Amino acid sequence: MSFDYMFKVILIGAAGVGKTSLIKKYIDDTFTPFQKSTIGVDFKTKDVEIEGKIVRLQIWDTAGQEKFQISFSSSIYKNADIFIVVFDLMNEESLNKIGSNLNEIENNCRIDPLIVIVGNKSDLIEKENGNVEERINEILKGRELKLFKTSAKDGTNVNELFYEIAKTFKET
Ligand code: GTP
Repeated sequence: MSFDYMFKVILIGAAGVGKTSLIKKYIDDTFTPFQKSTIGVDFKTKDVEIEGKIVRLQIWDTAGQEKFQISFSSSIYKNADIFIVVFDLMNEESLNKIGSNLNEIENNCRIDPLIVIVGNKSDLIEKENGNVEERINEILKGRELKLFKTSAKDGTNVNELFYEIAKTFKET
C-alpha cells in the first residue's frame, strides 16, 4: 500500500521501562508480562489514516541495556523524525536518565526532530503525584516537550501517543 507521509520514530530510554511493550500494545494490541530485553535494534511499521491521508510510522525499538546496544545503534538516530523518550513512572533512575537520552539525540540526529517524553507503567501508580512533572521540568530546563503517561499493560494513552505523533504531518 502506498502512503502520503512517512515518519521514522525511535523509542529510547533506560532498560525495562517498557519500550518494546508500548510498541507491541500499539501494533498487535498484546501485552507480555515477562517481555524479553531487546537486543540491538528492530523496527515495525504501522499505517495511520488521518483526514484521508495515510501516515506510515516506521517505529524503531532500541536496547536499553548497554550490553545489548550495538555499536552502530546511534547511527539510526541520524535521520529520525521523531523520538519517544520513555521512562518508568515507578523508577526514579529511569527518569534521571532522560537528560542523557536527550543529549544522545542532540549528538546523533542531524535534523531537528520532534521529541516527546513518555512516563510508562501508569497502571502501577495508585495516585497521581505532581512530582514527576516538576522533575521533568527541571530536566528539560525550559524546553517544552509534551509528556504522556501511558500503560502498555492496560493501554492507557498508547493509541493517543502514536496518533499525536502521526498527526504532526499537518505541520510538515
Ligand atoms: P529493554 O529492551 O531492556 O530496553 O526494555 P524495554 O524498555 O523494551 O521494556 P520491556 O517492554 O521489555 O518491559 C520490561 C518489563 O516491564 C516487562 O516485564 C513488561 O511486561 C513490563 N511492562 C512494560 N510496560 C508495562 C506497563 O505499562 N505496566 C506494567 N505493569 N508493566 C509493564
